[in-house]
Amino acid sequence: MKYSIYFTLFAVLGYAFAIRTYYLNQRCGTTLNFPYYSLDAIRLKLTSTINYSPNKDCYMTVNTTSLKQFMLYFKSIAIGSTTSCTRDWLEVFDGPNVRSRYVDGLLNRQCGFSISSQVFKTSGNALTLSFHSGSSIQYSVFDMVITSYHTGYCYSDEHACDNGRCISDKLMCNGYNPCGDYSDCPLAGGVIAGIVVGCFFFCVFATVFIIICRRRRHRYHRGPTHVQVVANTTPGYGTPGQGYNQPVPQQYGAVPYPQGQQPSTYQ
Ligand SMILES: *[C@@H]1O[C@H](CO)[C@@H](O)[C@H](O)[C@H]1NC(C)=O
Repeated sequence: MKYSIYFTLFAVLGYAFAIRTYYLNQRCGTTLNFPYYSLDAIRLKLTSTINYSPNKDCYMTVNTTSLKQFMLYFKSIAIGSTTSCTRDWLEVFDGPNVRSRYVDGLLNRQCGFSISSQVFKTSGNALTLSFHSGSSIQYSVFDMVITSYHTGYCYSDEHACDNGRCISDKLMCNGYNPCGDYSDCPLAGGVIAGIVVGCFFFCVFATVFIIICRRRRHRYHRGPTHVQVVANTTPGYGTPGQGYNQPVPQQYGAVPYPQGQQPSTYQ
């Protein structure tokens, strides 16, 4: 029961933060139009299965509105068995087709094994990825995150990153570094700081409150219980029931009122 609640919670959170995954080998020769599919970021992997067809050149383009750009980084890459890029390789083009120039920082063919969190960017609104597979058994994989952004004025439904980029605020805190400089989630630091400060003040107030309560209770215990005590222990002032509301001469220095003439209010 407990675990199913956790599971549901994580599933809901996971869904909220997830970005859709696409597979290059399923989209050879196509263009994925970000605005058309209401996409702000995607995760792109080479295949959904272990292997793929040999001797293929598969490319796909992603594009977005004219004033936007893409940033991308690899979560993982393991292409080919060597670093000489002679069997399998990936090419990353800064434009709408394989005749475009390479994306800055990703010149030439990409292969080998490396994990770098470096974030690259296109100069315009299109990015083309081309994968070449050799003739032998294919085991290459890659996993990349592609996020659309623009610079300049950020709109109300956008988040202004520290590096001057504007991203959809739906991407904030998604765990995929959508700003490229980890400034998408100012809340993370703020929430932790808030909890710490909040706990501190709560502790201070709780302590003060407890001290005040204790003092009050103390005073109450020693406090003005004279009516009961005196009335019940002073002999000669009527029956126990009547003595309750009568002033006591020893204490107030007043003459007791005769029966039936007590002041209506107690002083
Ligand atoms: C993206 O590419 C598709 C297919 O080539 C094209 O129809 C669409 O106009 C392009 N979108 C933009 C914003 O350039």
